[in-house]
Amino acid sequence: MHLSDQEFKLISELMHDKFGINLSEQKRSLVVERLQKVMRSGDFKNFRDYYDYVINEPSGQALSDMVDRISTNYTYFFREKDHFDFLVSTALPQLIARAKSQNRPGLKIWCAGCSSGEEPYTLAIILSEFLGAEISQMDVGILATDISETALQKAKNAIYTDAQLSQVPVSYRQRYFAAVDNNNWTVKPILKKLVLLRRLNLMRPEFPFKGKFDIIFCRNVIIYFDLPTQQGLIERFHRYLQPGGYLFTGHSESIDRSRALYKYIKPAVYQK
Ligand SMILES: C[S@@+](CC[C@H](N)C(=O)[O-])C[C@H]1O[C@@H](n2cnc3c(N)ncnc32)[C@H](O)[C@@H]1O
Repeated sequence: MHLSDQEFKLISELMHDKFGINLSEQKRSLVVERLQKVMRSGDFKNFRDYYDYVINEPSGQALSDMVDRISTNYTYFFREKDHFDFLVSTALPQLIARAKSQNRPGLKIWCAGCSSGEEPYTLAIILSEFLGAEISQMDVGILATDISETALQKAKNAIYTDAQLSQVPVSYRQRYFAAVDNNNWTVKPILKKLVLLRRLNLMRPEFPFKGKFDIIFCRNVIIYFDLPTQQGLIERFHRYLQPGGYLFTGHSESIDRSRALYKYIKPAVYQK
């Protein structure tokens, strides 16, 4: 189906204004490919018709479905493993010692743009391994948020194939996953209970949290945003981090212009 210049502009502007997602000219064929199915099933004559339907549909479900199709949800367990090594060697010992000294034995992590759950469940494994039996006496939790309902549903189902678990060390697989059948594994309740999944648009000017986080993971998300949108989000994250808290971005993302707010620790790791 043909996507005219005008139609592409309308859809790009909508994705940018509502979700920060920046669809450059190179993404044009991706837009056609990802929206084709819904266009056919909904019997729309052209992209303009579909666009009009999306912006006028009162529940917001059609808009939610559109971003779901357009956003890239690619992720895997132990992605950019450096970060998990850094957590174990440096960030967790520091933050937990500090929490204990302040008499608030807890640790709050926000995984922003968590996709289908591989990242927050990796964090839950790391926390469980690091804290051992102590975890039950501490107030630890991972809030995992995303805009995509499909991705969040996968995270809630928490069933992954053998291939999806290929990066998970065998000992962790035995401890934290249970076989469903020959090819599928489910995340055990001891991990699941550490992860709270919620739908949240990172474009909100304010986030609905009372407390602050010790760690924010927002990896491979801002890469889809333009510079001012990235900048605004990195600044907003700062308000929701404890002093001394850490921000992790994807290794191909940099936050140069916000360096005044954060101390650069190592590639893709910053400290408030
Ligand atoms: C490529 S995935 C990254 C997943 C994981 N953080 C990782 O590094 O593997 C990007 C995620 O960002 C989400 N996303 C994009 N725009 C968003 C927005 N405005 N608010 C919340 N999530 C968004 C997408 O739905 C997608 O699941």
